[in-house]
Amino acid sequence: MYTKNITIVKHPLIDHSLTILRDKKTKTEEFRRHANIVSKILLVEAAKHLPLKNKKIETPLASMTGRILTDEIVVVPVLRAGLAMLFSLQDFLPSVSVGFIGLERDEKTAVAREYYQKLPDIFATHHVFVLDPMLATGGSFDDTITALRAKGGKRISIVCIVSAPAGIERIQKNHPDVEIFTAAVDTSLNSKKYIVPGLGDFGDRYFGTQ
Ligand code: PRP
Ligand code: URA
Repeated sequence: MYTKNITIVKHPLIDHSLTILRDKKTKTEEFRRHANIVSKILLVEAAKHLPLKNKKIETPLASMTGRILTDEIVVVPVLRAGLAMLFSLQDFLPSVSVGFIGLERDEKTAVAREYYQKLPDIFATHHVFVLDPMLATGGSFDDTITALRAKGGKRISIVCIVSAPAGIERIQKNHPDVEIFTAAVDTSLNSKKYIVPGLGDFGDRYFGTQ
């Protein structure tokens, strides 16, 4: 069913950490640790096709040409929960440009409201990664991608830990060229638009604000 522009990242370490994240008994410290593990594995997969350029270097023994990442990468965590994934990414890509979009779902309507936006210049050649652990209705990612397109972004990937079928369908319909990387596709959304079985409110559990 989900074959178009979606990678469901499979790894025993993801299965293990996801089970701990989903367990309602898991406390903040463990939740952060396992969110970090899943985020890192997802980000390694999402970065698989990033462009490289040559760099001449001297090893202690000889000259050689190595390969390094270009500087055409932009990362956009969706505040607040996307920050969790940004922390995990900084070991791999310590010097990328980072833009921020703050979105919060209304508790009654589940429609996201933007409260903050600070994006760097984005060009068509940039690879833009949008980070948010939860793809539920898809409203938050949809609005973020629309904002990034308005700034000139063309090559956009989204990285999320848990996704729901409704959110995937919305992104695939409205942004068919956007690549989705996710660790799990769950069954459905409940009446409050939470992912089921899901893991609850990611932001509250990660930041200890339950
Ligand atoms: C959560 C989550 C996503 C959004 C997903 O954020 O982090 O941003 O909901 O839902 P959607 O796909 O239906 O838009 P929330 O509004 O709870 O804010 P927070 O990150 O500040 O906790
Ligand atoms: N946001 C969350 O944190 N969890 C959900 O299940 C849906 C939206």
